Amino acid sequence: MELMNTNSPEQARKRIPSQIAIDGPAASGKSTIGERLAKQLGYLYFDTGIMYRAVTLAALRRLGGVGDETAVTDLANKVVIDVLPPTKADGREADVFLDGEDITWDIRTPEVDANVSPVSAYPGVRKAMTAQQRRIGLAGKVVMVGRDIGTVVMPDAELKLYIDASVEERARRRYLECVERGEQVSYPAILSSMQRRDQIDSTRAVAPLKPAEDAVIIQTDNLNEDEVFDRVMALIDPPGGPD
Ligand code: DC
Repeated sequence: MELMNTNSPEQARKRIPSQIAIDGPAASGKSTIGERLAKQLGYLYFDTGIMYRAVTLAALRRLGGVGDETAVTDLANKVVIDVLPPTKADGREADVFLDGEDITWDIRTPEVDANVSPVSAYPGVRKAMTAQQRRIGLAGKVVMVGRDIGTVVMPDAELKLYIDASVEERARRRYLECVERGEQVSYPAILSSMQRRDQIDSTRAVAPLKPAEDAVIIQTDNLNEDEVFDRVMALIDPPGGPD
């Protein structure tokens, strides 16, 4: 019996991309999808927002605020941020350390949310973070998530996704996450903080939030997590394509 290869030449050429860049605004669901995708593919999952959050926390604690650009940039070049596989089953995506201290949940507070965008707009802070992200991203197979991964950090990534949702839907998701963790939060406060962050993230001079020209944009307002994931997997492993 003769075995026939039923794959079309186009399907046969398709292979799983080594570098996958996922960008999008706050709480668009990009981290959840990125984490799941990395697990499915056996890739490193790297949420770059963690680094900007860690620098913000360091500035709030050590400088008493984030307004002094020179001091914050200096700090960004000095602090040691480690992101390691999670050792506790409390919903964390990773263990995050700042100079050896576990700050995993300290970087998720409304205070950090409210201050992280100005910090991430400082060019010197971005320079320091981008260099570290490239070194990690280009070393192996990775799903990297952020705001400028497809445009600046890994412009040659073979697959670029831009995960989007309306600001009201994203604020609703963030509100529910906080409530689940037992935090006292208000929806209007989260919504206005998110609108402010969107404005700063997408209008800053260096590496503003925007889809790369060759990114696949997925609008998630009316999609659940499984539906978004299925759409992403269809781009990587099309039905009927090679295993
Ligand atoms: O994804 P997040 O909400 O944890 O990101 C926190 C902040 O960091 C966000 O307001 C924008 C910034 N950020 C960035 O400017 N570039 C990245 N690659 C990742 C995050």
